[in-house]
Amino acid sequence: MSRKKFIAANWKMYKIPAEAKAFVDAFLPLVAGHTRDEIALFPSPVLLPTVTAACNASDVAVGAQNIHFAEEGAYTGETSVRQLIAVGGTHTLIGHSERRQYFAETDEIVNKKLHTALKHGILPVVCVGEVLAEREAGETESVLKTQVTGAFVGITPEAAAPIVIAYEPVWAIGTGKTATPELAAEAHAVIRKEATEIFGEDFASKLRILYGGSVKPENASALMAQEEIDGALVGGASLDARSFAAIVKY
Ligand code: 13P
Repeated sequence: MSRKKFIAANWKMYKIPAEAKAFVDAFLPLVAGHTRDEIALFPSPVLLPTVTAACNASDVAVGAQNIHFAEEGAYTGETSVRQLIAVGGTHTLIGHSERRQYFAETDEIVNKKLHTALKHGILPVVCVGEVLAEREAGETESVLKTQVTGAFVGITPEAAAPIVIAYEPVWAIGTGKTATPELAAEAHAVIRKEATEIFGEDFASKLRILYGGSVKPENASALMAQEEIDGALVGGASLDARSFAAIVKY
């Protein structure tokens, strides 16, 4: 089963609109005609109108780094799916480890957000991954299973089709310590097995599982060569147009 790879930029809390526009203006010519992989940018909410407008005539998708699970309401500082759609966003990250770590996002919240995204036709990239202490304690497999099972509660196989998962070992994020391709592939296989048990073989064979954590132009091709790795979610190295384009063209 060949799955089209998905290469995504998570800009985190970086860039202002002028910098975002300059990035897209430099990036699009570098990836013009590149149809082998799907490409997506995940900027901060304040940058979304600029980035969606700049990417409008391209195949580059744009999404949010986070959404709220409620349709609307008194949730100061949050962004609704309706707001995301209104500014041209089509994708969202859900449950990034920084959301889990600094904003107390639980598997239950991730699950609610996933329901909301799917209901509105937004492509969700659900992030999972173990922290260093869990890996060292031999708990990686059980952590991944719990996160995947928790995210998928109450979701039907039909509704689940658009879901993408990103495996991001927390110890590899922003540390320069990439998981080896073999170690990442091993974790991806755990996730795919769990997805098979929940949604069946057909879903799991089509499920794209991205790797994230210190992906750079220098290590992208070795990671992407793994059958189990269906793309990348890139933080630091996605902030520069040439660097991210080099990853896209691994
Ligand atoms: P880095 O690529 O900076 O390690 O970040 C990974 C990440 O968190 C992407 O979501």
